[in-house]
Amino acid sequence: MRGVYIFTTIFFLLMPTIALANHRKPFLARRSSISTQAFIARRSSISTQDDTTTILVSPNGDFSCGFYRVATNAFTFSIWFSRSSEKTVAWTANRDAPVNGKGSRLTFQKDGTLALLDYNGKVVWSTNTTATRADRAELLNNGNLIVMDPEGQHLWRSFDSPTDTLLPLQPITRNVKLVSASARGLLYSGFYNFLFDSNNILTLVYNGPDTASIYWPNPSFDQPWKNGRTTYDSLRYGVLNQTGYFVSSDLFKFEASDLGDHVMRRLTLDYDGNLRLYSLNETSGNWSVSWMAFSRVCQMHGVCGTNAVCNYIPELHCSCLQGFEVIDPTDWSKGCKRKVDITAIWDKGNRHNITSNSTSQDFSVRKITATDFWGYDTAYTQLIPYSNCRNMCLTANNCQAFGYRKGTGECYPKYSLFNGRRFPDPYNDLYLKVPKGVPFREESDSRPTHSCGVTEKLAYPSSQMFEEVTSNFEFGYFLSSVLTLLLIEVVLIIVGFSVVRKWETRPEITDEGYAIISSQFRRFSYKELQKATNCFQEELGSGGSGVVYKGVLDDERKVAVKILNDVIYGEQELRSELSVIGRIYHMNLVRIWGFCVEKTKRLLVSEYSENGSLDRLLFDYHNLFPVLKWSQRYNIALGVAKGLAYLHHECLEWIVHCDIKPENILLDKDFEPKIADFGLVKLLKPEAAQMPSRVHGTRGYIAPEWALNLPITGKADVYSYGVVLLELVKGSQVSRWVVDGKEEVGLAVKRNVDTLREKLASEDQSWLLEFVDSRLDGEFNYSQAATVLKIAVLCLEEDRRMRPSMDTVVEVLLSLVE
Ligand SMILES: *[C@@H]1O[C@H](CO)[C@@H](O)[C@H](O)[C@H]1NC(C)=O
Ligand SMILES: *[C@@H]1O[C@H](CO)[C@@H](O)[C@H](O)[C@H]1NC(C)=O
Ligand SMILES: *[C@@H]1O[C@H](CO)[C@@H](O)[C@H](O)[C@H]1NC(C)=O
Ligand SMILES: *[C@@H]1O[C@H](CO)[C@@H](O)[C@H](O)[C@H]1NC(C)=O
Ligand SMILES: *[C@@H]1O[C@H](CO)[C@@H](O)[C@H](O)[C@H]1NC(C)=O
Ligand SMILES: *[C@@H]1O[C@H](CO)[C@@H](O)[C@H](O)[C@H]1NC(C)=O
Repeated sequence: MRGVYIFTTIFFLLMPTIALANHRKPFLARRSSISTQAFIARRSSISTQDDTTTILVSPNGDFSCGFYRVATNAFTFSIWFSRSSEKTVAWTANRDAPVNGKGSRLTFQKDGTLALLDYNGKVVWSTNTTATRADRAELLNNGNLIVMDPEGQHLWRSFDSPTDTLLPLQPITRNVKLVSASARGLLYSGFYNFLFDSNNILTLVYNGPDTASIYWPNPSFDQPWKNGRTTYDSLRYGVLNQTGYFVSSDLFKFEASDLGDHVMRRLTLDYDGNLRLYSLNETSGNWSVSWMAFSRVCQMHGVCGTNAVCNYIPELHCSCLQGFEVIDPTDWSKGCKRKVDITAIWDKGNRHNITSNSTSQDFSVRKITATDFWGYDTAYTQLIPYSNCRNMCLTANNCQAFGYRKGTGECYPKYSLFNGRRFPDPYNDLYLKVPKGVPFREESDSRPTHSCGVTEKLAYPSSQMFEEVTSNFEFGYFLSSVLTLLLIEVVLIIVGFSVVRKWETRPEITDEGYAIISSQFRRFSYKELQKATNCFQEELGSGGSGVVYKGVLDDERKVAVKILNDVIYGEQELRSELSVIGRIYHMNLVRIWGFCVEKTKRLLVSEYSENGSLDRLLFDYHNLFPVLKWSQRYNIALGVAKGLAYLHHECLEWIVHCDIKPENILLDKDFEPKIADFGLVKLLKPEAAQMPSRVHGTRGYIAPEWALNLPITGKADVYSYGVVLLELVKGSQVSRWVVDGKEEVGLAVKRNVDTLREKLASEDQSWLLEFVDSRLDGEFNYSQAATVLKIAVLCLEEDRRMRPSMDTVVEVLLSLVE
């Protein structure tokens, strides 16, 4: 009874919030004046709009600034070129923190700052002009966004904080650096930087997750003047002028191949680490390159990973050193590993301590011509004979190889082989340390293939499967199932003991370039997934959006691999959408690890949940599993509510799931629920998306508005959640609630809700014992059960405006957690 009281109180307390949430509409300030606006005045505010995203246009019409769409519902505040055929972004305020498409706004605040606020009012970016006489913001003809005071004095300039692009007359200075984008078509920050280093030299630096190195100007010249630079001018100032000349204080200069004053230009540090000057052809709207720092990409660092050699023929090509094998064929930045572990041989030799250089007998060297690796030298010696250099490497524990320059007698023992490239210089050779007596097979370019024969499918023992399969019992089948289960168990144990390594992704090289989305989220090759799932053997389940298979990645992480049906998007769009979904992280949402896009194949790789889907355990008609206890059910109700609340209200993209049902609720080893398949709706073909029966929604779970053709909002999920709550309490599937097998499922739900509403209104609660799943033997918390049913009834209101928001549901459920 107390629970009921608390529930009612909380519900009424929260009523205003619910009402507010329902009427939360984007703030449409001065919408009509946006397109003609020449400046943003203090105290004005402009919100993200699907149709009008341009806020300011420079007087000459060359530049525009406003909200730039990075994914369906994610926006940045950016400046772009108005005259290129595709929007080319020149500057971005919030490149690593896009804002929501609904309700976010740019405001010129009372305190004098120009600020970008996310839908929830959080300041994502702002100019540092507090307590100034800042009066208005203007976009100048050269693409510079300025905040100024009434006298026209500049208080803040976008030119002072570039992202990956410099415009003519936008200087690079001691406080400024360019940071590349992480991948083609994406704005997020990547690993390459363009800046003045501490020696006053303009440099390009690869600043990766675990190594950093300068790759331009040519790092093999130890004296800057050999590169035509000087370290003595500490002014640190470089600028491109309109004609196409670039000059900087370290004496570096270049000129465009199409010198002239009437060309729109931009100097961009591209996602691949190359610095390029582009010119716009205003007739076609295309950009062409009029200068670049590297015509040969192999000279850039971090391109091929360790123990690999970069070759440009004339496309980028990475290959492993002989005796090494590639770690990840889809991601060359991971490099190659030795087929034989030389540290093990070293340890074996060292244990006996025969002589101080005994182990040198275990190794020999192999000459690799026309190859060089940059950096990672343990020492540097000049004028020594070859034999000394060789000995130095063979006796050093950590030496992997050494470079030796005939003539000058320079010796470079190396502890790591990184930034490798073909280097046709007769005076420079590389000598690789190799274990003696280990034959090396010649197989420079053999590709690892993984062929899949036709094999019998092993089904996951789901309750649904058993209904059809039981009669087909065969001993061979049984044996192989048992063996497989045993194998899975062994793998489970091994995985359980091994520490889960935090892994990181780095730009991956494919023919077409890098394909990193963000850390923790990567692209997989089809082969890799084929291998991980052992040729898609073990099916975990299937649904409207595709079939899911179990897999184990090379790093021993278990994953679920879904083959998506009917995905509309082209590769680029799919990547943009996935990059947003991939960033969504919540304890009660299935984590997306990556994807695969190859030709017509579209796969999604996500976290694996040990206990499978909720329907398997909850509607366990064959008593295969222990009964889910009340506390577990309550926790599942709460977790699913939290996950949905996050999707509906908190995450970057507000996502309506559209297919909440026990099959899409997965349980991890602690029975913590995780919602699967969120965000998929947006990836599906429109015709598929319009048919609720097929993809969204499953009979019994779909809200009445689907049938009425009303717009679908988060409240549709709230309805489906209500059905799941009833199922959790009753322990039976909605499809089984129908009487005589004739009734429509929706009506069955309605009938149940009507009865419940009456019963809940009565004082006597004894009916609960009858209503709640009999398998619980009365072992459940009465007030929690009553609350869950009350929420369910509210969620199942026909009128979606009467349904509570998921935020509210979470608060109510939390209030009764013991
Ligand atoms: C803003 O400017 C003040 C003084 O000009 C400086 O002290 C402060 O660090 C700046 N803040 C930011 C976030 O740049
Ligand atoms: C750009 O710089 C070059 C060389 O310094 C100079 O000849 C040219 O006149 C400059 N162009 C403009 C538009 O200032
Ligand atoms: C610009 O593009 C048009 C159409 O593609 C082409 O005819 C013209 O030659 C181009 N101009 C320059 C300067 O490249
Ligand atoms: C240049 O633009 C035209 C259309 O204006 C397009 O057909 C052509 O493919 C573009 N060229 C390049 C190299 O992008
Ligand atoms: C063997 O070598 C190790 C390390 O090089 C050293 O710590 C140890 O004292 C040596 N043992 C003998 C018996 O020389
Ligand atoms: C051990 O290596 C040193 C150089 O590091 C060399 O001078 C010496 O002759 C070597 N000793 C043997 C027994 O090979």
